[in-house]
Amino acid sequence: MATILDGKVLAASIRLKLREEAALLPRRPGIAVILVGDDPASQLYVKNKAKDCEECGFLSRRIDLPDTVSEEEILGILNKLNAETIYDGVLVQLPLPAHISEKRVIEAIAPEKDVDAFHPLNVGRMVRGDSVIWPCTPAGIGALLDAYDISADGKVCVMVGRSNIVGKPMGLLLLRRHGTVIYCHRHTPDLAAMTRQADILVVAAGQPRLISGSMVKPGATVIDVAMNRDAETGRFTGDVCFDEVSEKAAFITPVPGGVGPMTRAMLMQNVLTLAKLHMGLL
Ligand code: GUN
Repeated sequence: MATILDGKVLAASIRLKLREEAALLPRRPGIAVILVGDDPASQLYVKNKAKDCEECGFLSRRIDLPDTVSEEEILGILNKLNAETIYDGVLVQLPLPAHISEKRVIEAIAPEKDVDAFHPLNVGRMVRGDSVIWPCTPAGIGALLDAYDISADGKVCVMVGRSNIVGKPMGLLLLRRHGTVIYCHRHTPDLAAMTRQADILVVAAGQPRLISGSMVKPGATVIDVAMNRDAETGRFTGDVCFDEVSEKAAFITPVPGGVGPMTRAMLMQNVLTLAKLHMGLL
């Protein structure tokens, strides 16, 4: 039976540490979060961000906009937030309604306040290997690997999924840690042949039961990023068949309680890092 990578416990200890660090600063770190529309999942994510800020002693502001809002209005709000020194981070919850260009919105966030590290300037820094912060999910997985002393150096790392939020930056993070990275996606001809090579397998496809036991190398580390809601039970499941895979893997993340809490903790860590930068402490 694999060791469970407990993101919930680690995230709680990180929040405590961040709170202690924040208390020593000349002012509270702050974040402004924009939520457009009333998607229940996004509502929950944004609510959790405010709760995490409170726990860490950070300032947070939530701006709710109707899904009829225009792109120009959002850009105007971002301009103002970029100029307000009390906010170290500015985040626009994705996805946005179809009539709004995510690209234009992301590019309107000041790079130094881009707490998600989605702005092209920050993506460029990430590719070059000199970014200060990383997108929250890859950063969270990196912290989880560190906590359990799992090194990517010299390992075959297979990334299933190639989104801008998770897959692409996750591959870059593993590359930076000297892993040999293979990206897989829906055009990959033989997914199982790839995943079976993985010493570290990260899955972010949003397809329940995509990864079965036979697709995993014995002794692998398996990271399940997905949060799929089961229509019948209403419960969350990942992309990995946990029962089968946990019999073969050495380490595995649970869903929920693995990557999700780590993503949240890394957002707080990124806010603190940007705050320190803005205060001239980094
Ligand atoms: N929607 C889903 N994940 C994320 C994230 O990491 N950042 C933002 N801004 N929106 C998201």
